[in-house]
Amino acid sequence: MKKYQVTISAPGKLMLFGEHAVVYGRPCIVTAVGQRMKATIELTKEPIFQLNAPDVQITNYQKPMTKLGLGDIPKGAKFVEMAVANFLIRHPERLAKDLSRMRGGIKITTKSQFNSQFGFGSSSASTVCVIKALSELTGKKLSNKRSFLSDKAIFDISYKTVLDIQGKGSGFDVASTIYGGTLYFVIGGKVIKPLKLKSLPLIVGYSGIKADTVTLINQVSQKAKKYPQIIDNLYSSIGQLIPLAQNALLRGDFENVGELMDFNQGYLSSLGVSSSKLEAMIHASREAGAYGAKLSGAGVGDCMIAFAPPSKVNAVKKAIEKAGGKAINIKSNVEGVRLES
Ligand code: PMV
Repeated sequence: MKKYQVTISAPGKLMLFGEHAVVYGRPCIVTAVGQRMKATIELTKEPIFQLNAPDVQITNYQKPMTKLGLGDIPKGAKFVEMAVANFLIRHPERLAKDLSRMRGGIKITTKSQFNSQFGFGSSSASTVCVIKALSELTGKKLSNKRSFLSDKAIFDISYKTVLDIQGKGSGFDVASTIYGGTLYFVIGGKVIKPLKLKSLPLIVGYSGIKADTVTLINQVSQKAKKYPQIIDNLYSSIGQLIPLAQNALLRGDFENVGELMDFNQGYLSSLGVSSSKLEAMIHASREAGAYGAKLSGAGVGDCMIAFAPPSKVNAVKKAIEKAGGKAINIKSNVEGVRLES
């Protein structure tokens, strides 16, 4: 029996090393986190696209399938709508077969276990859920429940969707939510290498401030126009940390990982993407016994991360809260996108 509805889930992500420099060709290391985005996608009879995404204030958003990707799209609907449009442009035969002849439209509901303010990558997670779902739902291979797209093909359509909307970005978040685990990653998916790790002694603190990734990338690129050599040197210095961090992670030498995080934080500070709030949380963590700490992601807001020995976890969490942050309990290195039902 052919299915007309699937539910897919995909994890959030946190950058461990290499943000910003990754946009300029240096590698980074990212881990998938255990709070997930869930999306239910249904092929419907009416030729209408429908979306409910209560986490981003989208209720009962509708438009004709023929207008997908066109006109003004509300912010909260952009990634999901463009993901559907890009899938259908790339695979028109699937549209013809399933949507025009047999069924007419698509109904999507997304629900996130994490707050979209945290910077865990809710946009890329929902994009990936949609592409994976359409890959599961459309086309003739459906009856054997196998996705017809490979992970890399899902990456390519999802990354294109992110670039269509944001204009900039390395795609690390897209890779993380697809492959899960902890990845060594190079822009555009040139290298996507899973690191075999058991678990990470990761503590996460939310700053309470929403970071805007594109604004921060632009801010750094303005600085690079004024100080090209200095900024390039900073990117290279960050890049040099990545193989060292990779080896330390694989050895389970978290003390060394912590030292490298502190270096990375210093370089990010020099790029101008730290903030007094993040610095307070980072320094408080170190003083409470963390191996090391840094901001994670575009900077200025969102989250900071620390690695700490088990005996210091509570003290570090308390220190983050005392510095005005919110300690978030989270699993890392978790499974990537998957079919739930
Ligand atoms: O703001 P986030 O968590 O999406 O992280 C941005 C990281 C950057 O390196 C600045 C951008 C990117 O796409 O790699």
